[in-house]
Amino acid sequence: MRVLTLCGSIRAHTSQHDAVMELAHTKGPVSEFIRKGKSLVRTGLTLSNSEILAAATMKGVYSKGADIEYFPLVVLFHHKESSVLDLRRRSSKENAEDELAYVDTLSIVEEKLEELCAKIVEADGVILSTPVYFGDRSSVANKFLQVTARKNLLQNKIFGVASVGAKRNGGQETCNIYSMIETLNQGALVVGNGPPTSQYGGTAIGGNPGDVLGDESGIDTAFGVGMKVAHVSEMYSKEKHPASHVRIRVDILVTMDTSERFLAKYLKDLTIRTAKTTPWVEFVIHELIDSTIYRCLGCTICPVPPGDSEKTTKCTIKDPEDCLEKLRESLRGSDCAVIAGLNILDYEKIIFRYQVLTERMRYIRRSNFELTDLLITGLCYNQFGATANSIHSIKTLTSYIRHNTTFYKPIDIFEYEGKVVNDGSDSLVELCNAARRMKAGKQE
Ligand SMILES: Cc1cc2nc3c(=O)[nH]c(=O)nc-3n(C[C@H](O)[C@H](O)[C@H](O)COP(=O)(O)O)c2cc1C
Repeated sequence: MRVLTLCGSIRAHTSQHDAVMELAHTKGPVSEFIRKGKSLVRTGLTLSNSEILAAATMKGVYSKGADIEYFPLVVLFHHKESSVLDLRRRSSKENAEDELAYVDTLSIVEEKLEELCAKIVEADGVILSTPVYFGDRSSVANKFLQVTARKNLLQNKIFGVASVGAKRNGGQETCNIYSMIETLNQGALVVGNGPPTSQYGGTAIGGNPGDVLGDESGIDTAFGVGMKVAHVSEMYSKEKHPASHVRIRVDILVTMDTSERFLAKYLKDLTIRTAKTTPWVEFVIHELIDSTIYRCLGCTICPVPPGDSEKTTKCTIKDPEDCLEKLRESLRGSDCAVIAGLNILDYEKIIFRYQVLTERMRYIRRSNFELTDLLITGLCYNQFGATANSIHSIKTLTSYIRHNTTFYKPIDIFEYEGKVVNDGSDSLVELCNAARRMKAGKQE
């Protein structure tokens, strides 16, 4: 099993490849990684922050027993054999024409592109480490995602991302989320950085080259991405063609609906149609607008007491009317969850349970991440021109990946002038196939 880490820094340098790999192989805790990084910097290396973060992700991958592979994306481009710092030194010299040879361009070096594509094809998991530029990734990192989209290289790969910006709240999360959404749409399965924070991948702070070594918790998040990508890649790559006896259960949570049950009825029809091609799936539809869900009380009882890692936690809300315990039981036995929502023109008609459900699920997360590794996605029924709930799938990604789940491509159903133009059945079949493959791998 193999995980490829890509570095999107424009300050990365090919001559530092060995140093990055040496750092990636550091044994021991993150503090040891930092000590090693600082000693490399002291020898005169100008390691970029994304190179260091890439090494941290590889350390995470390696700790899970997987093979690591590293590719600095800057080698795809011409005139980048000098680092930015060399360029700065040369700028002070007189010969201005010489300088042009060091200007970065975005025209691709074909043989390097072939090498990159071959490495992606061979990998089970892919990690992008990138600097934050204006709350987004670098141009170099972006080129990678353009290439993978065009060549369909990320289909069925496990993807994670780590980013570094000069500031706290400098856009590390927006940067990560953009790449997560885009790779989902390219068919990748997306993960975050796992417990304890279980956020959107690695997020670190560092301005000048090497500064990120001062951000131990940021480096820890990158390490977490590596472990999570390796762990899920291992499960997903074990049984690419599951045996015919492998059955799965898919729980569909109808988190909002009209009083006429428009969405629930649509989903019942959709699952009946889908079950004809996937008879090994049991669909369970939870119509949550019929249920009582109390708001989270934000109390102090639900967190698992420190040091008591075996203990699972119950919510203080005990009213038998409240449906969360029942839903929790169902999700614990599930192979896949779909968080369904509506984006219709007449927004007033929507009875909304999404937010209160998401909020109450805090205690499930705090029960040692009970939904860990569950394959999950959002589904939205969209009427053309409706905007009020148009980011449903993005919201499900950012909230439910925090349960340490694995995310799959969201299912978007479109209706135009009363006609359904994309009914979601192909996407649902794809999701079921992925969930089945994951289950077979887990069983292995
Ligand atoms: C064009 C440009 C845009 C930047 N935008 C941001 C930003 O939006 N937020 C932030 O925190 N840092 C920003 N930075 C700072 C870099 O993210 C930071 O220096 C990072 O460590 C660079 O990574 P590297 O050392 O791997 O090249 C920007 C830097 C540049 C050159």
